[in-house]
Amino acid sequence: MAARLARKHPKPRPLRLALSGFGHVGRRFAELLGGPYGVILRRAGVEPRVTAIATGRHGLAVDPSGLSLPRALALVEDGCSLSPLHQGAPIASTRALVAAAPYDVLVELTPLSPLTGEPATAHVAAALRRGCHAVTANKGPVAHARRRLTALARRHGVRFLHEGAVMDGFPIFNLAERCLRGVTVRGFRGVLNSTTTRILSRMEAGVPFDVALGEAQAAGVAEADPAFDLDGWDAAVKTCALANALMGANLRPADVERASVRDLSAEAVEAAAREGKRWRLVARAERTGGRVTARVAPEELPLGDLLVSSGSDGVLVLDTDLMGEVGLWEGAGGVDQTAYAVLSDLLEIVAPTRR
Ligand SMILES: NC(=O)c1ccc[n+]([C@@H]2O[C@H](COP(=O)([O-])OP(=O)(O)OC[C@H]3O[C@@H](n4cnc5c(N)ncnc54)[C@H](OP(=O)(O)O)[C@@H]3O)[C@@H](O)[C@H]2O)c1
Repeated sequence: MAARLARKHPKPRPLRLALSGFGHVGRRFAELLGGPYGVILRRAGVEPRVTAIATGRHGLAVDPSGLSLPRALALVEDGCSLSPLHQGAPIASTRALVAAAPYDVLVELTPLSPLTGEPATAHVAAALRRGCHAVTANKGPVAHARRRLTALARRHGVRFLHEGAVMDGFPIFNLAERCLRGVTVRGFRGVLNSTTTRILSRMEAGVPFDVALGEAQAAGVAEADPAFDLDGWDAAVKTCALANALMGANLRPADVERASVRDLSAEAVEAAAREGKRWRLVARAERTGGRVTARVAPEELPLGDLLVSSGSDGVLVLDTDLMGEVGLWEGAGGVDQTAYAVLSDLLEIVAPTRR
């Protein structure tokens, strides 16, 4: 009887995780790992254990027997270093940790560097070269090096997954890879930057651009340096990640043609609103003559267009050969959805739907 039960419910095998980056997403993931995520992973047959955490300014810690997540969370939330949790010889840097710590999956959650994709790309590559899986919510490695990293993962018999890189946890990459099998994505259009949508919506109501920008900054949704959002870099990095993953392109963010919402006049935005139209920062990619091109620019859209949607952080419409248009609509996205994307990538690693 006991033997039959043990066969039915085999002991979960250990799954050692290294977190590079322990900010909003990393900490939320760690909190949920102690609750529902842990339950879900155990049901999938693994016992998750975080054996390494690296940060930028809060030190790093490795413990092969598993770090205490409540203690790690408390230390970082109090602004302290993780070093009291570290066991063994000192480790000098995240790179050294990624290269030497004991783990099965690297969870890469460092900040995005839009123009280079580093250091996240180097971290992911180092993990894959060691024969460890890598998952990330950072769009940098997907926009700058997806083809190379995917080939590297394949060579080492491991996975490189990145569901959280665009539209938080909304299942774009999983949808295209697992639910649209045999379908070719010919192109896509989307509104992928919520900061510009928020600013344009306020301008439609007659609020001056500078005031709308100040409101977005005060609410913490726009950076102190807003160029990344306004000049289309954020949308360009996302467009590039999508084109590379869904259309097999090999673009870099600098290849995406960009125009800024700063070039739009208040009069143009208000006049469009009076005519029942809306300006939005639209991202587009298409394949012409075997080549994928992409651009991000403000466009005037009729109110009924799928891309004009109130209460949405992002909308993406895929143009496919066998399924026509397939749309994804994201409500309020953020840290919870991105942490979920990490879980969904881990589940794909431990219980793959397809290899
Ligand atoms: N927040 C979201 O809703 C969201 C949504 C989708 C995608 N993402 C992406 O997910 C990633 C993480 O986002 P987040 O909001 O958690 O960022 P965050 O709050 O800024 O946290 C970044 C973390 O990375 C650490 N870090 C910085 N440089 C590092 C390095 N060289 N090595 C190791 N750790 C380093 C930081 O440490 P210190 O704090 O000690 O400097 C911090 O723990 C980003 O790439 C972001 O674009 C986030």
